[in-house]
Formats: sequence, structure tokens, C-alpha cells
Amino acid sequence: MLRGAAASFADTGVPLHPPSRILSAVPVPLFDTHTPLEPLRAEILARINDVVDDSRFILGPNVAAFEQEFAAYVGAEHAVGVANGTDAITIALRAMGVGPGDEVVVPSFTFYASAEAIPPTGATPVFCDIDLETFCVTADTVRAALTPRTKAVLAVHLFGNIAPVAEIEALGVPVLEDAAQAAGSTSAAGRPGSLGTAATFSFFPSKNLGAFGDGGAVTTSDQAIADRLRMLRFHGSWDKITYEHIGYNSRLDELQAAILRVELPHLDGWAGGRRAAGEHYVDAGLGELVALPVAVAGCAPAWHLYVVRDSAPDELVAALEAAGIGQKAYYRTPVHRQPAMAAYGAGVELPATEEAARTHLAIPMSAVLSPEQAAEVTDAVRRARRLAA
Ligand SMILES: Cc1ncc(COP(=O)(O)O)c(C=O)c1O
Repeated sequence: MLRGAAASFADTGVPLHPPSRILSAVPVPLFDTHTPLEPLRAEILARINDVVDDSRFILGPNVAAFEQEFAAYVGAEHAVGVANGTDAITIALRAMGVGPGDEVVVPSFTFYASAEAIPPTGATPVFCDIDLETFCVTADTVRAALTPRTKAVLAVHLFGNIAPVAEIEALGVPVLEDAAQAAGSTSAAGRPGSLGTAATFSFFPSKNLGAFGDGGAVTTSDQAIADRLRMLRFHGSWDKITYEHIGYNSRLDELQAAILRVELPHLDGWAGGRRAAGEHYVDAGLGELVALPVAVAGCAPAWHLYVVRDSAPDELVAALEAAGIGQKAYYRTPVHRQPAMAAYGAGVELPATEEAARTHLAIPMSAVLSPEQAAEVTDAVRRARRLAA
């Protein structure tokens, strides 16, 4: 069993440990994208073969079909495939009319790309705080960052949770959902991708719906925004003859679209697996040892990352590492304190963001995380607590 565990850790980049350490009895990598895709391997290879035979590699029939299927899945009128989730944000903001002189409210506790995508539009990122338990922005944290120049709010559905879009829209500002981490999540109001003026997705390989390279999409039910999205991703042109905007070369690749079409029908099943994995941690008693992530009211998150909080996260890191269990602190330095954001982040005070940055730790999560694996992780945390006591 330990040999298998070691091989699996090597595959997932988790370092091997000397035999004196207490390795977990079952391998527990930080994430597992391989196992859920294995049953689809033959079908994916066949669809890749079809694209090679067809030779329409850019904006071919698979991109068009995936756009329709993905729009229908999220419950929006349109989906527009782009090159990645970062471009998706820049292009979506521009399609929503954001430009120089405008401000876009964005959380600082998120992946750097959420904020990085704003300055290329000419607008200024204005950082807001989050709710510590859900890791998402709220109407209150957004309100504190609004000014007369606010043109949009980028509501990040962090870790698979769903930010309260309707409550933020009620403040009178359009919302762009950053749903990069929330494909497969659901809420009483609908799926991410159908809640705001527009929404952006990433199909980075480790995401809930992951391609075999980079990929992204923007969804919207606004026809005018969809038209601008289609032009902006294609050099600001409909036909590569007349150029109406300074645009981008940012298309979802035909091969990636073919792969995503095979995967999409399985997304709900994988999302169920991610939700069940969260339950396994609850059942194993992890909530008695550390603070577990809390779902936003009315939301059923397909946990992309399972992020706990603890006042001494380094103790947990040491214990999990010693057991050969994957873990990672993703956002120890929040975005507003990153060097490249100095012009926008100086003097900004975000207490919940700082607390989340200091205390968070992602522990293993995947669509196939078993009760035994959740118990291994929980036991390792319990051992750490006993040692510290
Ligand atoms: C919250 C969030 N926004 C945006 C992005 C950017 O997506 P991509 O890596 O596809 O550019 C990511 C991806 O990691 C993300 O997690």
C-alpha cells in the first residue's frame, strides 16, 4: 500500500518522505484530476482524432457546439469560448463597457488573475474585503468599496462557493461573476454563469471542468454583450476584414472544445463527488479540529478547493507533510499586497482578508476523495493537535 501511495505522491508533485515518517495508509494527494478522466480516455482520444481528421483547428464546429452546450448547462443565452479565464475577465469587462477612468471592485483574497485582468481594460481595481467563513465578497464588503466611478463588481465565487450576486446587484452596480472555480456549483438562484450581467470561467486542467491545456469562456444572456465578446476575442472583428475594436487573439481552441464536450455531461457527477468529499470531512470530525468552509446561504458548492482555517496553520502543514498528505496555502499574501498591485493596494485595510490569508490551508479535494482518505487527513490533523496540546 505504501509503495502505491509513494508512486501517487510522485505523480502529483507531493514530495516523498523518508521511511521514518508516518505515511498515511491511503494516498491522499491535494487533488486528483486523473482518476475521474480515466474512464473517458478512449472517447476523448476518439474526439481528438476527429478534430485532426477534420482539420478545422480554430473556431470550428466543436467550439460552436461547446458554446451552445455550456450556455445551456449554466442557464445563460450565450457562451463565448476564449483562451483562458484571465482573458475572459478582461474581455468580459470591456464587453460590459468598462474602460479608462472606471473602477472595478474586486476581492483581494482570490487568485491574482482576478485583479490582474482589470488594468488591461484601462480601469482601476478597487479591493474589497470578504466574509471570513465563506471566503466570498458580500453586499456589505462591496458597499464599502463603491465610489461614483464604480462601473462593475467582479464577484469571485471562490473555492466553489457562490458569492451573493443578487444582493450585490441590489446596490445598483453590474456584476461580473468570476466563476473560474465554481463550475458545477448550484444555488437556489441558479448556476454560476447565469447570475450576473456576465460570468467568466477557466478550463485550466485542475479546474472542476478542466481542459488539456488553457481554455476559458464568458457567459451572458445579453445579446449586445455577447456580440462584443465575439468580436473582441477575434481581433475586434467579425470577418478579419473590418476591425471595429482593438481586440485580442483569444479563442477557445478546437481541440480543447472537443475534450470539454466529452467532459461536460460528467460535470454534475463530479460536482456531486466534490460535495460528498466535503461531507466526508464533516463525518470524520474535522470540524471539531479546524474551521471548515461555510457554504453561502442557498448555495451547494462543488468545492474546487477545500480550504480550512486554523490559528496555527504551520502545525497542520508539518503534520500533513509528515504523513505524505497534500496541502497548500494558496493566497498567503493577498492580492492587494502583491508588488505589482502597489499602485492600487497601498493603504487598503482588509481585516477579514488578512485573517484568511494568515490562517487558510487547502487540504485534499477531488471528485473521487473517499471517506477513508478524509479520515486519513482528519487523523493527521488530530495527531498534530495532540502533539501541540
Ligand atoms: C478565481 C480565478 N480567477 C481567474 C483565474 C484565471 O484563469 P486562467 O488560469 O484560466 O487564466 C483563475 C484560475 O486559476 C481563478 O482561480
